[in-house]
Amino acid sequence: MRSPESTSWHSASWQTRPAQQQPVYADPRALERIVAHVSRLPPIVVSWEIETLRGRLAAAQRGEAFLLQGGDCAEAFADCESDTIAKKLKILLQMSLVLLHGLKKPIIRVGRMAGQYAKPRSTDTETRGGVTLPSYRGDLVNRPEFTPEARAADPELLLRGYERAALTLNFVRALVEGGFADLHHPEYWDLGFVHQAPLKDAYQRIVSSIGDALDFFEGISGRQVHEATLVDFYASHEGLHLHYEQAQTRFLPRQNRWYNLSTHLPWIGMRTAALEGAHVEYFRGISNPIAVKVGSAMDAAWLQGLVTTLNPQNQPGRLTFIHRFGAKEVATALPKAIEAVRQTGQTVLWVCDPMHGNTETTTGGIKTRRFENILKELELAFRIHAELGSYLGGVHIELTGDDVTECTGGARGLTDQDLQRAYRSSVDPRLNHEQALELAMLIAERSQSRRAGKRAGTASA
Ligand code: PEP
Ligand code: CO
Repeated sequence: MRSPESTSWHSASWQTRPAQQQPVYADPRALERIVAHVSRLPPIVVSWEIETLRGRLAAAQRGEAFLLQGGDCAEAFADCESDTIAKKLKILLQMSLVLLHGLKKPIIRVGRMAGQYAKPRSTDTETRGGVTLPSYRGDLVNRPEFTPEARAADPELLLRGYERAALTLNFVRALVEGGFADLHHPEYWDLGFVHQAPLKDAYQRIVSSIGDALDFFEGISGRQVHEATLVDFYASHEGLHLHYEQAQTRFLPRQNRWYNLSTHLPWIGMRTAALEGAHVEYFRGISNPIAVKVGSAMDAAWLQGLVTTLNPQNQPGRLTFIHRFGAKEVATALPKAIEAVRQTGQTVLWVCDPMHGNTETTTGGIKTRRFENILKELELAFRIHAELGSYLGGVHIELTGDDVTECTGGARGLTDQDLQRAYRSSVDPRLNHEQALELAMLIAERSQSRRAGKRAGTASA
């Protein structure tokens, strides 16, 4: 077993391993200059926030909290605007309120935000009309237009991405600290966007029920509920572009440890999780809580290798497995994955991403996901974990606060024909605000009825 202490791990040691999904830069010296520049800039997050999050994820692992991780598939530099950011924060806060009410557990809120700018692609190049150019790999790397100039990997974009991540998180922190997330004032998160009356009514009922509960508790205890007042919020992104991640990785002498200070919770994508690959080498040395996307191609030995390499000390909260099998495969793949981890004698936090295994292309050639499949995978995941004595401690969702039409279904019954109307994602289809809120409602309702079922079962036993 390798551990950062026993080998000469450092923030660039990944460079000795094969690295998948990395762009090729025409001028490596320009890249080096930018990486050196970003390494000198102040960090975007700090180690004590990272440690607090690790503690909270450890609680989720014990079944005492629930993780809500959500945001865009790919953040766009052009969307680094106050309105778009505030709307995304709002929908995540609304979902978390609904989940808090339904699950009766603290919700850990983590955005796919402030750094989600690099994307893995299934092919390195794209061909149109006989012309072949590098694939678009996210705004951190190149630009989506199909021209040689736009598709050339530009190291300056690493700096632009770093700046936008900082601007985004700065704004989110200001909103959260300024009371935007105060549970006493959920009216700040207005529902102007919800057109579905039943959804709106159900949400309002939850808001007043939480308001009543706060009043009741504060009435009898004579104290304000401070913990609920300041809702904390964390950032996460796929740690894909290893030069970028390396540039923000610092050794903190006081803690005697390395941290990635570009985000609280970086994750390894499914395409870059090879045991001997550069990403696993990089991730094993940083002290952040980390996650890995798990797909059905990953067998028991692979999962066990990830557990022992990435969390050799079995530290609580350190390692999250985000499974994304798809509604069709979850019933066969998930029990095997749970059993594989169990055999290591170690624990992970299990989270379900019901988006990435359910992507399909319509007959018209549009990439979409069906709400019913997303819900089905989630329901099966909750059920399978419960049946096997495991705990599903979170969900990972691609969503936006805007009124897009990228996924079909949901209460408004979006069809394949609706997709063209407001399809804005340059990568994967996201749930719009209504669909995201509805999904949270359905998770909460199902969990309430499971609890009621259990109580009835206990009463009659
Ligand atoms: C993603 O989260 O956008 C993604 C590419 O996921 P995965 O690595 O699970 O395919
Ligand atoms: Co995606």
